[in-house]
Amino acid sequence: MADHIRPATDADRKTIGEIYAAAILDGAASHFPPAALAAWAARPPLNDPAFGVDTLVLVADREGIVVGYGEADLAAGTVERLFVRPAVMGTGVGSALLARLETAVADRGHRRVSLDAADNALPFYERHGYARTGRSDRRDCGDVTLTCIGLAKTFLALMSILGGWAGPAH
Ligand SMILES: CC(C)(COP(=O)(O)OP(=O)(O)OC[C@H]1O[C@@H](n2cnc3c(N)ncnc32)[C@H](O)[C@@H]1OP(=O)(O)O)[C@@H](O)C(=O)NCCC(=O)NCCS
Repeated sequence: MADHIRPATDADRKTIGEIYAAAILDGAASHFPPAALAAWAARPPLNDPAFGVDTLVLVADREGIVVGYGEADLAAGTVERLFVRPAVMGTGVGSALLARLETAVADRGHRRVSLDAADNALPFYERHGYARTGRSDRRDCGDVTLTCIGLAKTFLALMSILGGWAGPAH
């Protein structure tokens, strides 16, 4: 059965925090030194005010268990976070969440979606049509610098096609 993707609620906050830390410590361990992982994982995943009007936070529910979450800034047209429980990584949760976040960004009128990816997630995003825009160093985790890669994916072609399509002929 397909995962149920739904907006997060306040009741999901604790689980989201657990998934965030576990996904980093497990999923990114091959690409970052322990100090960087610990600093990244310790950073609160949802800044206050977390569920603002321009922030979309989605969770994936698999048989009653939240197995992943993703966050997009709809004003900026960016995917901010995407994290999946280590036990179910590679089973389509991240793809399902990403697709829904992209749809929300496109529905806001953006012609492209951008994000900063950690090295370990680069193959995942490239698999989903993202291309590099440049490389950026960010100091998001105290004194530890995490190198992120700027990526973007354009909706332009699809939107042009849909925009020029007046509906079925009668
Ligand atoms: C990156 C992440 C969000 C992907 O979610 P996921 O549910 O594991 O990915 P999916 O199962 O939807 O995989 C989709 C495709 O990407 C591919 N892929 C390539 N590299 C991958 C990687 N490093 N991680 C996951 N999938 C990867 C998968 O093989 C799959 O391809 P397929 O459809 O041909 O089989 C998840 O693994 C994760 O939380 N990682 C740790 C935290 C992290 O780095 N988050 C992103 C921060 S920028």
